[in-house]
Amino acid sequence: MSDKPIPIGPDNVDDLERILSISNTDVDAVAHVVRAESDAIFTWDYERSRPALSKLYEKAKNSQWNGDTDLPWDTKVDQEQVVVRNMAERPTLPPDVDWRGTPFESWGDDDWVKLGIESQNWLLSQFMHGEQGALICTAQIVETVPWIDAKYYAATQVMDEARHVEVFARYLDEKLSGHYPIGAHLRALLDDIVSDTRWDMTYLGMQIMVEGLALAAFGFMHQMTTEPLLKKLLRYVMSDEARHVAFGVISLKEFYDQLSEAEMRERQEFAYEAAVRMRDRFLQQEVWERMGIEPKDAMALALVDEARPLFQQMLFSKIVPNCKKLGLLDASDQWLRRRFEELEVIQFEDFTDTGEEYALLDEVQKDRDLAAAS
Ligand SMILES: [Fe+2]
Ligand SMILES: [Fe+2]
Repeated sequence: MSDKPIPIGPDNVDDLERILSISNTDVDAVAHVVRAESDAIFTWDYERSRPALSKLYEKAKNSQWNGDTDLPWDTKVDQEQVVVRNMAERPTLPPDVDWRGTPFESWGDDDWVKLGIESQNWLLSQFMHGEQGALICTAQIVETVPWIDAKYYAATQVMDEARHVEVFARYLDEKLSGHYPIGAHLRALLDDIVSDTRWDMTYLGMQIMVEGLALAAFGFMHQMTTEPLLKKLLRYVMSDEARHVAFGVISLKEFYDQLSEAEMRERQEFAYEAAVRMRDRFLQQEVWERMGIEPKDAMALALVDEARPLFQQMLFSKIVPNCKKLGLLDASDQWLRRRFEELEVIQFEDFTDTGEEYALLDEVQKDRDLAAAS
């Protein structure tokens, strides 16, 4: 595998060589430094002139939960049993696959269970690293956004993201069986977002793209898992994430309304690259490396996995409608609309999302009220 990533171009978006051309070499490092040179902006205008952001800020203040005391950490989790149960309840592979000539030819039940366990360790690790990305980006937004209402709100999100990193890290440590380093695609994306000097790009990359995808992925896992602690953890995290995406949409809508076509095109290209990178990472190449299988050979499995195309598309179910709300789909001769058509995710453009997540938020509030009363 080369360490020179192949750039995303019009003809290679689905090309396996390109996807696998990016991999992490410093997997044992304990720190990763990214140079961020954006301006820290003070504002002397303390007028609360943005009611939508102000409302979100009030909501955020009242919706703080405690990762330590609000989740049932005493739940016993037998990871192997959970994987076996999930596999039995929702098999994603047709029963009569012919594995001859593939690396899975000699696999028995144990190997499939091991794959399920590693995949879960991988996925939760990526959630944790992504949450740290959100923590850093939101702290950056507090500094760089010029509006006081947005600084106030972003400060609440910094706390939310710290809590998310905390609960995913704890779940991995106490309930699962191993960590994975950050995947190469996610890391490259976070590096781009953190190092961009334009404040709205932090929003676009983190609040719209990464958070939009996370919300969809958490929702999918929340539906799939039979493990009660993880279910509750995800429900609580999702109730925060819904607010975070709304923060991005409200802030950027105001800003994008006054950008030129050329400036909008830059945002479209940034959104598209982010989308492809996020899709690529779900090939979970690091898991295959750990299982002793060439990631390329593992594609035999991806081809028969009935859930995969659905999962990949579903990841875009929040991103596409939000890009539409921001005018990103149709600016610059519908450039991003064309790209999303190529990725076969344009069908989500009219999905409405806010209602569903705000309902979750109320549920979390009810939970906490009940706990406080008892
Ligand atoms: Fe988060
Ligand atoms: Fe978030």
